[in-house]
Order: sequence, then structure tokens, then C-alpha cells
Amino acid sequence: MFNRSNRGALAAAVVCVGALTFGTPAAAGAATTSVPSAQNAALTVEAGAGAKGADKPEHKSKGRPDHAGQSGRPDHAGKPGPPDHAKGKDKGKGNGKGPGNGGGGGDAAQCQFTPEGGAAEGAWDRDSLAGVAPDDLRIGNIAAGGGHHSDAEYPDPFPSDPEYREHLASEYSSVTHENFLKWEFVHPEPGVYDFEQADAVVAYAEENGMDIRGHALFWHSQNPDWLEDGDYSQDELREILEEHVRTVVSRYAGCIDQWDVANEIFQDDAEASIRDSDNIWIRELGPGILDDVFTWAHEEDPEALLFYNDYNVDGLNAKADAYYSLITDQLERGIPVHGFGSQTHLSMQYGFDNSYQENLQRFDDLGLYTAVTEIDVRGEVDENDQMSAEDRAGAAERYETVLEACLAVSGCNSFTIWGTLDAQSWVPNTFPGEGDATLHEGDYERKPAYCILQRTLVEHEEGDAAWDADPAFEECRSILQEAGL
Ligand code: XIL
Repeated sequence: MFNRSNRGALAAAVVCVGALTFGTPAAAGAATTSVPSAQNAALTVEAGAGAKGADKPEHKSKGRPDHAGQSGRPDHAGKPGPPDHAKGKDKGKGNGKGPGNGGGGGDAAQCQFTPEGGAAEGAWDRDSLAGVAPDDLRIGNIAAGGGHHSDAEYPDPFPSDPEYREHLASEYSSVTHENFLKWEFVHPEPGVYDFEQADAVVAYAEENGMDIRGHALFWHSQNPDWLEDGDYSQDELREILEEHVRTVVSRYAGCIDQWDVANEIFQDDAEASIRDSDNIWIRELGPGILDDVFTWAHEEDPEALLFYNDYNVDGLNAKADAYYSLITDQLERGIPVHGFGSQTHLSMQYGFDNSYQENLQRFDDLGLYTAVTEIDVRGEVDENDQMSAEDRAGAAERYETVLEACLAVSGCNSFTIWGTLDAQSWVPNTFPGEGDATLHEGDYERKPAYCILQRTLVEHEEGDAAWDADPAFEECRSILQEAGL
């Protein structure tokens, strides 16, 4: 269990700039959707049978050539202490996995979805985002499908749309399952797993040299009814959770680079209290279960980086303080927590504090990786589903500020955008009247927000002259000029 008095003391020591209003209401992500009936690759797994990779076919190792020794992070098996901050080490392509990361000591697991002949080396054009990012920073997006898409008039984008898949692979070096790894999809019935869609995303990432962020193992939202309404005893719930975590993490050991192990565990009240009513696990088993979840995940894949992840932690605020205290306490007790993810769902209707970087930095100083895991910047839209020119420019600048913060924080190893086309984004569905939150127009044309990210990456890596002179960036230079940015 957490040492609550210790947590309080640590929280008090953290600089707090007062209450801030951020963009995402408490209901973020609360939409619950049913499992699509078309999924037919159901796999029945007896408790624990999925653990330790039983039945995994032999595949050649991806090799993960970039990983060798570059982590520079402390032994993440929970030992606090100053990380080696030497910048420029490869913490991103491969996400900093390497010796010293997992504490497992042995060979890394081989990803069972790596194609024959090994995983592709990612290759991105110069005129893309991943192509101009530093070697130690992955630029990501989601594999869209499930969730709100299940109620839409179009089919799930990722499985059905080759143009969309091609676009993702050409721009991004990391992918997150938008919904396909959530409990309601992957574990639709007691003891029954359905990995069809999740596997397809993992295989695609391996084929295209992309890293994978696994999302999510422990959450209050998008759980199946059988679980939420199941009336299970504490012992049964604990067993169900352990079996799920071990089954899912072991299946993707060696494939999934970072896991959002625990998602959104604090509330939006002034004290940022822990979700002890709507999170079934915390409500029934107490917050100490978090120690177990991280430990189980680490045992199944000692190389995977294990994250907390939340929204409204975009600066030095009460919720971010709560994570800081909790993680500090867990690290002191040797719990394998490796990262802090800031979802970064922003809205132009709310202010944006200037302490984003400072917040990431304090987690970095704990020896953790950090990541921007789900960024989108929305605003009120007109009848064409566009923000005003002013808001568009402001949104682009927020993207820029957050990317600059991540670039400035040594262990910030990925920057993931939550959606590709506005028509398919979760935003209009979740925040009526708001939209225009992604980087591309409906025909994949670039918005100023895309171009500002490209410019930020190029200038960071190569200096202003490279941006001004290289013909590869002509398209974005003119888009930014037109937008006055
Ligand atoms: C969203 C998905 O984009 C939607 O398709 C789904 O209907 C609801 O969840 N925080 C998270 C993500 O951690 O999982 C949420 O994704 C967005 C907010």
C-alpha cells in the first residue's frame, strides 16, 4: 500500500502554482462502446495460460539494433536516483530500451509478430514528421478504430482503409491502438480474448519499423459489462486483473515498447483524489493494487517501459502533483514505474499554462521517461468544422510549445498525436461544437499545425538555415507563410 503520510509530505514539497483550468472535462474518455460483433478471432484462454508466451511461434528477432546500451537511464526496476541525462543518446528509436532498463538481465523477448527476416527499419521521407525528428524521439499517431468509430457510418479506419494506413506509416514512427487494446475489445467475455485487431496493428508496426505504445491495462473506462457488473469477490477481481495483465503483456513482449499501464487514476477535483469510486480496481481492491499491476507487467516484459498516463496534467497542477507523489513513493519502494505520460488534450476554450515543460522536467528528474501521449488541440468550429483563423494559429502554437517542451526534456521519448482526420477524431463526438483538433484536412492536406511541428523539429535538429533553404520543406514553408506563422 502507499504510504499516505509520505505522499502528503512529498506533495507539500512540490511547487504548486495554484489551480489551473485545462481543456478536458472529467468525462474525457468515458464513452463506453460495445464490442463489434464482426470480430471473429476470439481466443479462449484459461486463466494464466497466456502468460510467458506459451504457443508463440519462433520468429527472428527484430534485433532492435538501436537499443544496445543507449538507454542511459537508471535500472528502472524501481530504483530512484539521478538518471544519466546525457542528451543525444538514442532514447527514442526503440524508446530507450536496452541494458539497464528492465532489470530483467536476460535476453529481450522476441516479438512474435515480427515478419520473417526481421522487422523493417523505419524509413521516412525528409518531408515528413518522423523523417526530421531526432533519433531519440518517436513521433506517433493512433491506429483508429473501435470506440466511437463503432457507432459511426464509416468502417473502422485502420482495418479498412489502406490509404490511411499508408499515411500513418509515411509520417509516424510510433503507433498507439486507439481502442483495440482496451479491455472491452480484447477481453469481451470472461476468459475470452479477442486479439485480432490488436495483433494486426502490432504486425503493421513491425512491418513498418514503428514503435508501439500499448494502451491501456488498468482504467475506469471502456471495461466490459461482464467485469463492471460482475459482482466478483476481491480475490476473484485480483485474479482476473492479474490474468489479464499477464496474458496481454506477455503476448506482446518484445513488440510493445511502452505500456500505459495505469490510465487516468486521479480525479479532477481540487485535491486530485484517487478514483476510488469509478475505477473498479481501486474501489474494490484499494490503491495498493497499482503496485501489483506494474509488477506483473514488468515480470511479463522486463524490457517494456511502464507508464502512468492522464489528461489535465499539462503543467504544475494538483493532478500532476498527485502523480509526482505517488510515483516518488513507488520508486522508493522499488516498484517498476518507468514513465509519465501527459495525454495533452487541449482546447482553445481554456487557458494553457506555461509550466508544461517544468512539469515534464520534474518527472524526468525522478529518473523517469516522459511522453506526450495523446495530443490534440481543439476549438469551437464553424459550419465547415473549422476553428477561426485566430484559434487555428493559437492551436498550432500550442502544438509547437508542447513539442518544444518535449524536445527540451531529455527523457521525453515520444510525441503522439491522437487522430489523423477530424471527421474520424474522437473530438467532435465527445465535445459537441468543437473540432479541428488534428494536423490534416479531410484530404490529408497539411494544416499549419502540421507544418509548425515539422519546422520545430527541423530547426531543433539542423538549425534555422536548413528550414529556410531546403526545397524539401517548400510546401510547409508556404503554408506557414500564408497562416502568418
Ligand atoms: C478515446 C477514443 O479515441 C475513442 O474512440 C473512444 O470512444 C473513447 O476513448 N483518453 C484516453 C483515450 O486515454 O483512450 C481516449 O480515447 C481519449 C482520452
